Amino acid sequence: MLVGLMGVGKSTVGRRLANRLRVPFVDADTAIEQAAGMSIPEIFEHYGEPYFRDGERRVIARLVDGRPKVIATGGGAFINDETRALILEQATAIWLNASPEVLAERVKRRDTRPLLRGKDPLKVLRELSAVRNPIYALAPIHVSSKRGPHEATVNAILKAIG
Ligand code: S3P
Repeated sequence: MLVGLMGVGKSTVGRRLANRLRVPFVDADTAIEQAAGMSIPEIFEHYGEPYFRDGERRVIARLVDGRPKVIATGGGAFINDETRALILEQATAIWLNASPEVLAERVKRRDTRPLLRGKDPLKVLRELSAVRNPIYALAPIHVSSKRGPHEATVNAILKAIG
């Protein structure tokens, strides 16, 4: 289960990691959108963040069914106490990390994230890093996702999980 801030490459790295391991890949954000029948920005807008977090926990609980797979989570999933407890108990959490500067560069390519809308991404990502990194650090495996090809990150994860 890949955890970490938005823009770090959880979905891209997760998809490639799953290919290499020959197991299915699931993007938890996409699964939430399918379950809700609307996009994440729409869920935030119409029902608010607490409702989204509750749906996120339920979807992740359903995804960890004991069958081998790679799951990419949304950046806030591991920050939620209940969702984190579930992940730590039932999956191998891998924290993908990068500096706020690298993340800000990457999120520019997609501007649909409700937490960034209308704000300076670097400022938000610096604040989120300060608050969230100590919590992501509770994951048993830490891998840094630097600038450059995601393949290097995939290799680093494969090495870390043995
Ligand atoms: C969020 C990250 C997003 C998405 C939602 C909230 C967060 O996922 O779940 O916008 O709280 O960090 P990505 O990390 O895939 O962008």
